[in-house]
Amino acid sequence: MTKPRVALFPGSFDPFTNGHLDLARRASVLFDRVVIAVAHNSAKTSLFTPDERVEMIESAIRDLKGASVIHFTGLLVDCAKRIGAQAIIRGLRAVSDFEFEFQMALMNRRLAPGVEIAFLMPSQEFTYLNSTLVKEVARHGGKVSGLVPALVERRLLERFRAAGAPGKAGSGSDGQLKAARPRTKAR
Ligand code: PNS
Repeated sequence: MTKPRVALFPGSFDPFTNGHLDLARRASVLFDRVVIAVAHNSAKTSLFTPDERVEMIESAIRDLKGASVIHFTGLLVDCAKRIGAQAIIRGLRAVSDFEFEFQMALMNRRLAPGVEIAFLMPSQEFTYLNSTLVKEVARHGGKVSGLVPALVERRLLERFRAAGAPGKAGSGSDGQLKAARPRTKAR
């Protein structure tokens, strides 16, 4: 029997968008199993906890054959080795993504030469989409349907409603949102 082809699709996924889902779908055509891995980085403040992110992703990938979701701490390559992944999937939306991805890919390759890095392009309609933008729009009461899976949309609404009226969330009491911007690039 041939060895199943396993891909690890890592990210912050704070929250998971339809662009991420598009990439997971593309990866699932190429691999027998796609393991979506939510990075748990305690140094980076997120809007949603890793468990919340996992729950939202689980709901989004219900119909995606061979896909599953986990969360991880520590090095990505260690996670890849643990689950027996031959490849790490990353999305490339535009040239601006390239430099950071290139650095990360080469470092990961140095750390784990046996794990290949595969870049996939999302559908054109998602090239401008990232989690930071989605949070920004939702925080101000804008419509995010069509940009994120249904449960993510619901959770965003709940989170920002709980934080106050549109426009107020994140303006003082919610330090989390301000810190939600990634250091390197918007995902
Ligand atoms: O969605 P993101 O924020 O672009 O994902 C970045 C992520 C989580 C894939 C990256 O930060 C990562 O791999 N973190 C785990 C720690 C690690 O292995 N760092 C070295 C990468 S070269």
